[in-house]
Amino acid sequence: MKRIAVFASGNGSNFQAIINAVKRGELNASITLLVSDKPGAYVIDRAMKEEIPTFVFAAKNYPEKAEYEKEILMHLDKNKIDLIVLAGYMRLVGDTLLQAYAGKIINIHPSLLPSFPGKDAIGQAIEAGVEQTGITIHYVDAGMDTGPVIAQESITLTEEDTRESVQEKIQALEHQLYPKVIQQLLHKAEAFH
Ligand code: GAR
Repeated sequence: MKRIAVFASGNGSNFQAIINAVKRGELNASITLLVSDKPGAYVIDRAMKEEIPTFVFAAKNYPEKAEYEKEILMHLDKNKIDLIVLAGYMRLVGDTLLQAYAGKIINIHPSLLPSFPGKDAIGQAIEAGVEQTGITIHYVDAGMDTGPVIAQESITLTEEDTRESVQEKIQALEHQLYPKVIQQLLHKAEAFH
């Protein structure tokens, strides 16, 4: 059974969707660890309810990124993690993790990359007045939302759409697509065999 660590900073609805897919038998993997950089984030409550071990840290308590990433790496190694899944982890991944988990870190982003990278991608798309936006799942590299794309799905924006309605559509799509793509990656990609 492949072992996944999810990294998240906030609500954790994608974390929950991944867990639910495992429970339904649609994702054949173990969600072994949650890593969060936000003490108090709701995603940590979700992990506790699901009895998933967590490593929570506050970046401000470390002199530099390499220091907290070394600590994360210890937890990943101890838990024999095969794949790192970023799900609303609002931090750039540094060299320590990129080197140790080369090709084994993926992210989900709420836009059709390369359009609207960074924060508030949904707000950026609405502001730009585009007719279509969507979601992207991609491998993580040192840039901000820049690694090779694995999968994308789009939605059409209508006159009636509000920020909330767009967010709802985007998240519904994320909750379906992320578990599906993780399943395909773990069971088809060369890197995981
Ligand atoms: C998701 O919509 C994800 O695409 C986005 O954060 C949200 C987290 O929601 N990620 C980014 O914007 C990364 N640049 P969740 O905590 O409910 O899963």
